[in-house]
Amino acid sequence: MKADNNCIVIFGASGDLTYRKLIPALYHLYKIGRLAESFSVLGVARSELSDDSFRQKMREALIDLEGASGEILDKFCNHLYYQAINTSDVVDYAKLLPRLDELHDKYGTGGNTLYYLSTPPSLYGVIPECLSAHGLTTEEFGWKRIIVEKPFGYDIETAKALDIQIHKYFEEHQIYRIDHYLGKETVQNLLVLRFSNGLFEPLWNRNFIDYVEITGAESLGVEERGGYYDGSGAMRDMFQNHLLQVLAMVAMEPPAIINANSMRDEVAKVLHSLHPLHKEDLKNNLVLGQYSAGSIEGKPVKGYLEEKGVPAESNTETYMAVRCQIDNWRWAGVPFYVRSGKRMPTRVTEVVIHFKTTPHPVFSQNAPDNKLIIRIQPDEGISMRFGLKKPGAGFEAKEVSMDFRYADLASPSLLTAYERLLLDAMKGDATLFARTDAVHACWNFVQPILDYKAERGRVYEYEAGTWGPAEANKLIAKHGKLWRKPSGQMKKKV
Ligand code: NDP
Ligand code: BG6
Repeated sequence: MKADNNCIVIFGASGDLTYRKLIPALYHLYKIGRLAESFSVLGVARSELSDDSFRQKMREALIDLEGASGEILDKFCNHLYYQAINTSDVVDYAKLLPRLDELHDKYGTGGNTLYYLSTPPSLYGVIPECLSAHGLTTEEFGWKRIIVEKPFGYDIETAKALDIQIHKYFEEHQIYRIDHYLGKETVQNLLVLRFSNGLFEPLWNRNFIDYVEITGAESLGVEERGGYYDGSGAMRDMFQNHLLQVLAMVAMEPPAIINANSMRDEVAKVLHSLHPLHKEDLKNNLVLGQYSAGSIEGKPVKGYLEEKGVPAESNTETYMAVRCQIDNWRWAGVPFYVRSGKRMPTRVTEVVIHFKTTPHPVFSQNAPDNKLIIRIQPDEGISMRFGLKKPGAGFEAKEVSMDFRYADLASPSLLTAYERLLLDAMKGDATLFARTDAVHACWNFVQPILDYKAERGRVYEYEAGTWGPAEANKLIAKHGKLWRKPSGQMKKKV
């Protein structure tokens, strides 16, 4: 299905996200015919750029990142426009009125406007207010929607305050809080795996599952984003949003139907059921770390404190591991071990469901516990690990695997996360966007962790290129287990 005709107004159009993700996503949608011909993009930021210089900059991004060329690139770039304004000065927003009128007239977009906030988060409350002051939020002529980038708040109080502020000018159905993990095919595939197969559902509960591991590991460091990252850390950057959303997909109940409300009702329910972690629990259930210099794939890399934009005495965590519990009938007593880190040995996001072992060992050598490994990225796929007889005399079991690689299903027009989410917002489908109650539930769960860290949380050092501080091993060892050490490739050599 194509997007509605509309004008996309990107605030922060001279920034990194627009360059690396948003414009490439829109280009790809255009190239595969998923954008209506009558769309336009109005880039907005303080930098003084003309339409032509903005087009030129975006063209370079597309050539560089997408290998774009030829007529399609030219035609796409002709849909791009730019208006410089001082984003925090309400008076300056008057400059948007004639530009938007001109674009809606030219492209017959009937006033449909999608605002994308890709500025520093301090402006996420200011921009809606300024738009409203100029009548740019009213839906009298065409729909008005607003996509808000992460982070949505800095803690529970600022998230609530931001919600109140945006809700003064936009209703909930107009607000699209983006979490790009929800746009990933393999995260959505978790739902299809769980809810379209009779095989898994009977086993998907405390009676058969011993524990769940969720890993979001990156081999990259903080790159050019040291300034932002140091105020955020792994808890806010990855756990509060991406990893809790993945946990919700693993743990939620089946929705009655797949639509924005019933899906998001189930997500919110499970997030509300997270067992609150208080100070006394955190001592035993949380490990934070920060990387020091080390090497990744044989190449030396700097420590976090040497990264650009990071204060020399920073105590920010680049690694976190936490043991969560869900207080409901399905999951009571099943630990969810969630970890995330920068400068790990490899980039891998995966969920591992560890099933309980047989009640009594019959053979002299049993296989390890049965596992379902859901590989979110890279080498996306699913691997089922179980025991079979080792060939030869006797009855010894060894672990074998049945592997499915997502690439076998992929069609050339598979959408990336930003493509999928931009398209959904243009179609008015909020299913894969975070609803206000879910965002608050995540912050409510994370807030005591942040408070604990601020008061007395210790941040352990780990060498870049390792799987985090040794203390994280103790966390899972309490359950008698070890963290999995996934490789970049999913497939196991049998
Ligand atoms: P950048 O710093 O690269 O860009 C910020 C943009 O905001 C620029 O276009 C800047 O342009 C504009 N801007 C407008 N007003 C201000 C102001 N008062 N102060 C500073 N800049 C202003 O940021 P990113 O593009 O990396 O990120 C944008 C948002 O998206 C952030 O909130 C970030 O957290 C989020 N995000 C980014 C990701 C990424 O990979 N980059 C990933 C996920 C989320 P100008 O100076 O011309 O006004
Ligand atoms: C972003 C974080 O939201 O997600 C980054 O700000 C992180 O720090 C990125 O690197 C990870 O996304 P992905 O899609 O590469 O797993």
